[in-house]
Amino acid sequence: MRGKRIKSLSVALAVCMTALTFFSAPADAATPTGKRLKDVQSRVLIGTEFPSGFSTLSDSAQFLSTATPEFNLVTAENCMKWDALEPSQNNFNWNEADKLVNWAKANNYQIHGHTFVWHSQAPGWIQNLSASAMESAMNNHIDKVMGRYKGQILVWDVANEVFEENGSYRNSFWYRTMGKSFIEKAFIRARAADPSAKLIYNDYNLEYTGPKSDAAYNMLKDFKNRGIPVDGIGFQMHLDIQYAIDYDDFARNMQRFADLGLEIYVTEMDVRISSNPSSAELEKQASYYKNIIEKCMAQPAVKAIQVWGFTDKYSWVPQTFPGRDNALIFDRNYNPKPAYYAFQAALATSPTPTVVYGDLDASGSVDALDYSLIKQYLLGNITKFPAENGMIAADLDASGTVDSLDFAIMKQYLLGIISKFPAETK
Ligand code: G3I
Repeated sequence: MRGKRIKSLSVALAVCMTALTFFSAPADAATPTGKRLKDVQSRVLIGTEFPSGFSTLSDSAQFLSTATPEFNLVTAENCMKWDALEPSQNNFNWNEADKLVNWAKANNYQIHGHTFVWHSQAPGWIQNLSASAMESAMNNHIDKVMGRYKGQILVWDVANEVFEENGSYRNSFWYRTMGKSFIEKAFIRARAADPSAKLIYNDYNLEYTGPKSDAAYNMLKDFKNRGIPVDGIGFQMHLDIQYAIDYDDFARNMQRFADLGLEIYVTEMDVRISSNPSSAELEKQASYYKNIIEKCMAQPAVKAIQVWGFTDKYSWVPQTFPGRDNALIFDRNYNPKPAYYAFQAALATSPTPTVVYGDLDASGSVDALDYSLIKQYLLGNITKFPAENGMIAADLDASGTVDSLDFAIMKQYLLGIISKFPAETK
């Protein structure tokens, strides 16, 4: 009798343990070896998108503990799109976007805003307005959104996907109603709404030269010539190993945009393979990540490289391309894939940045202006420094963050109490 009770107790316990294992996050996800992606180099920001509701996913703990140390830039997959933020005219829903912004601030992430004028995920109410009403609605949307997050968003995708593959303007409701002027009007409004944000044009299939990339190049060249405020170009980089990519052509293409004085952002990288991939496919995918990122690291105009999600568990790909999947750098169980290590190795090819500690405006000396810049940063008035490697140059004790200790150290330096910064001797 007693033996029977013990046996049923152990069966019940085993059932409970199995249930617990089933419902909790997978405990066996491997932590990647080597440095986290954002720490491999300091020249470009490394980003990912977060889906709406990222903090309430059934596996949020695993999601966040994997992502948080890897990246330093985040984009909203959907919650900063027009239909999410302004579903009916002038009624804004900030809930999800606020959550993302607050999370980013708490975790020292920069934010990439996505997106204003786009033909997709735009609510019905805006699509049938007259040209003047549409322009006012556009101005209002840009003012309200950029106003709410003023100084907190590093870069905004102001216009998204305005060209067809043949290089003609996309026949969107924007274009049909306002002509191509909606694009430059959006940039002008965005600059006025938050002068500290970088403003970029973002599109897919721009990676290689051809009619679409030429159209974007010509538009941006014209904007530059006429003083329309644009700071950069976003290459979305949604790739598939079924299609070959000429990496030298990609490098040449980046160079011509860089020659216009534009910054370059890889905004949504993923590389599709099959739903049930062989190891050869995983290796081929890794080679795409490696080659693209190596070219980016060799191009000084590249400021950020972002993936469109990091785990295959949450990716837009399988819903859109039946039979294609597994496009990201971690698998569904949060294990790093060959693509992760290819990304990591390619980032390491970055030339070592020159850092002049304390010279936050690259003026050639450490002075009162640098002191006031660090103060502005601590007050939250600015989110980075003018010098190319300003964030590292401001971390005077090499603690990994720029904080009040660095401010105190800079004061001691200016008063002549110390003649070297602690970071220089580490
Ligand atoms: O919001 C509705 C929700 O109310 C409804 O219950 C649900 C049912 O399916 O659908 C929800 O809308 C979905 C939306 O994402 C928000 O989750 C749409 O069906 C779905 O099509 C939409 O997909 C997004 C897609 O953009 C739309 O174009 C993907 O998540 C998102 O990853 C993808 O991202 C785009 C970039 O913004 C621009 N570049 C290309 C990239 C990939 O398509």
